[in-house]
Amino acid sequence: MITRMACWGAALFTCVAWSLLGPFAATAQETAKVWTVPEVGALPDNEFGRLVRRGRDLITATYAHIGPEVPAVAHRYAGNNLACGNCHLEAGTKKFGLALFGLYAEYPRYNARSGEEITIAGRINGCMMRSMNGQALPLDAPQMQAIVAYIKFLSTGVPPGQELPGLGAGKMPELTRAAEPARGEPVYARACATCHGSDGAGVRRSIPSVDLGYVMPPLWGRDSFNDGAGMARLITAANFVHFNMPHGTDYLNPQLTAEEAWDVAAFMISQPRSHKAGLEHDYPDLLQKPVDTPYGPYAEGFSEQQHKYGPFAPIRAALSKLRANAPARTGAPR
Ligand code: HEC
Ligand code: HEC
Repeated sequence: MITRMACWGAALFTCVAWSLLGPFAATAQETAKVWTVPEVGALPDNEFGRLVRRGRDLITATYAHIGPEVPAVAHRYAGNNLACGNCHLEAGTKKFGLALFGLYAEYPRYNARSGEEITIAGRINGCMMRSMNGQALPLDAPQMQAIVAYIKFLSTGVPPGQELPGLGAGKMPELTRAAEPARGEPVYARACATCHGSDGAGVRRSIPSVDLGYVMPPLWGRDSFNDGAGMARLITAANFVHFNMPHGTDYLNPQLTAEEAWDVAAFMISQPRSHKAGLEHDYPDLLQKPVDTPYGPYAEGFSEQQHKYGPFAPIRAALSKLRANAPARTGAPR
């Protein structure tokens, strides 16, 4: 897969080479362009600018606009008081903090979970029904249009087919053993509980009439993501935690060892949370089911327990054997 980083490297090299060519070379200003996340604040105060700003507000303060406690009952699409931005950090602009930049042109794309091609709105609704434990936003709802406009804006100037570095939650080495909630518990007590609470319920803001969200979002329990969410899968959760938590950490400077991150994520996903009905219909092509999906059915004979906590290498090996005998498909999940 070509990463944008490689392209930047090439572009900068070309630029330097050209500048040695003298007067015929383009000016440094023209060539040494580096893509950065576009600045919402710089948008004009026109209809488009307002739509994008509204989309950003919906990401950073989801609970205040479409949360389960907003006064307008018809707007209660989300089932919890999280914000999209609690996971899509820095309003979707943080590398390996489940970034939302540069992906607009990747959609519509095949989605293994639903077994069909989905649009960006369809993907947003995946998070609405799982991470936000709520209902899908209608495609023509103004809130949906604003979120899509914001995500599209975050892809300004990114040509189709180019993947920026920093999407997803990162990828640290896996353990050869199963991750263990019991080993993660003391890590949680030491490194997470001060913010997220020893009961995982987080800390709400003190002025609920003004702002319904959390200062520290809950990690489990009824106001958190449900058991069908990406964050309920160990590989996603462990990498997210490794590269982003404790809050303020980034991928250049992880605070936990990989082992601690695997075990503390195992502890987090072992805790009770809302159940999403119908999970058995996810990944209609079982050969495409991510190895860390914590619910069956599965194409191979491994237990739900091993899918939930690993080790994943044996599952992966069994799956590639099965895949070798099955017709190829494209669009594996990131
Ligand atoms: C509890 C954490 C969490 C919350 C809250 C959340 N998401 Fe997500 N989101 C994820 C994870 C994890 C993934 C990647 C899932 C995977 O690996 O399959 C994701 C993926 C996405 C993607 C696809 C990204 C890509 O790389 O293609 C979009 C778009 C998205 N979310 C939008 C939203 C929006 C909009 C909201 C709020 C309405 C939201 N998410 C709330 C965790 C969350
Ligand atoms: C200094 C406070 C702090 C510490 C310590 C901390 N977090 Fe967080 N965490 C946050 C905040 C704040 C957010 C929301 C980020 C945002 O909205 O920008 C968050 C978000 C999260 C999320 C995604 C949102 C959700 O509710 O699911 C997960 C998962 C998470 N933290 C796990 C952990 C784990 C595991 C640890 C311990 C290794 C940890 N955090 C340590 C403050 C903290």
